[in-house]
Amino acid sequence: MKDGYGRTIDYLRISITDRCNLRCTYCMPEEGIPCLAHGDILTYEEIETICRAMAQIGLKHVRITGGEPLVRRQCWRLVKKLRRVPGLQTVTLTTNGILLEEQAQQLVAAGLDGVNISLDTLDAAVYRSITRCGDVSRVLAGLEQMQKYPQVTVKLNCVLGGVQWEQTAVAVAGLAKRCPVHVRFIERMPLAEEDTQSCAQDDVLAALEAVYGAAQPCEKPMGFGPSTYVQFAGFLGKVGFISAVSHKFCADCNRIRLTADGKLRLCLQSDRMVDLRALVRGGRTAELISTVQEALKEKPQAHCFEQRGIETACMSCIGG
Ligand code: GTP
Ligand code: 5AD
Ligand code: SF4
Repeated sequence: MKDGYGRTIDYLRISITDRCNLRCTYCMPEEGIPCLAHGDILTYEEIETICRAMAQIGLKHVRITGGEPLVRRQCWRLVKKLRRVPGLQTVTLTTNGILLEEQAQQLVAAGLDGVNISLDTLDAAVYRSITRCGDVSRVLAGLEQMQKYPQVTVKLNCVLGGVQWEQTAVAVAGLAKRCPVHVRFIERMPLAEEDTQSCAQDDVLAALEAVYGAAQPCEKPMGFGPSTYVQFAGFLGKVGFISAVSHKFCADCNRIRLTADGKLRLCLQSDRMVDLRALVRGGRTAELISTVQEALKEKPQAHCFEQRGIETACMSCIGG
């Protein structure tokens, strides 16, 4: 699949629910957001139909997101279905990790290739204040559980913020020293209402190098996302940076998104959406391919977070 700027699009982020069992301050308001009605949400079978059609025109990688995907019943059933779609090379999941320990075995058995776990701090009280209700020990138990499955790539997503961010960065990066997991520091994108200052990549790297020594840049890309990686001596995993603000990566964008209610979203920050649900529900599967190809021509060249005042949907609806 090619977009209007000649970029190859082979990666689909599929939000399977807009619900979440946390309330991260940078993602949604305390009271949550109005949820989609059950009937509006695509079934796993409908998602599979869309992926089968898109795989025929070059879709290779899918990532299941939310809200929090593991709050939807039997998420592993979707993993299993997608793993069988001809042409799809990887099926991965992004989760807050709260329900991972109990679901890990089924997800892995279903063929999951990788899991990205959100973990912004190791401190229980700070975690509770960021997520407003979460218990970090459950996330750590999920991470521990994943160590039983070395065939599944595990990455941690850390959005830094707050007064002690240097110590937090050092502590979370320390997990990549001890375990074969890759820790990525994500610059906060100014989307949500509570839009506090983000920690820029260069500052985080400097804070880590002060403790762990000079890092070597990794030339080989890892995964299919926007992260760039470095290696610290003696670390089992790599340290990565996803810096949508300070190191804009839109020129290499390879992805589009499917919302839980079946709309194709062309960019993280764009309300240009195309309804695919009507086509799947109407049995017009042949039209799916041409509709997607037409829509891709409309994919924006880049996000424009730096232009304040532009309305962007809540992160939990977009799926990150
Ligand atoms: P990998 O293939 O494992 O590297 O996955 P990923 O990093 O693409 O996915 P993940 O769900 O772990 O997302 C990590 C961060 O990257 C989140 O904060 C996402 O919002 C952000 N991200 C993912 N895709 C995009 C994108 O297209 N644009 C921007 N600006 N941010 C993105
Ligand atoms: N900026 C950057 N990353 C965000 N995430 C949620 N909201 C934001 C934001 N405003 C991250 C979560 C999760 C991933 C899917 O998106 O921490 O790891
Ligand atoms: Fe839930 Fe993720 Fe948003 Fe936190 S960032 S509230 S875990 S969807």
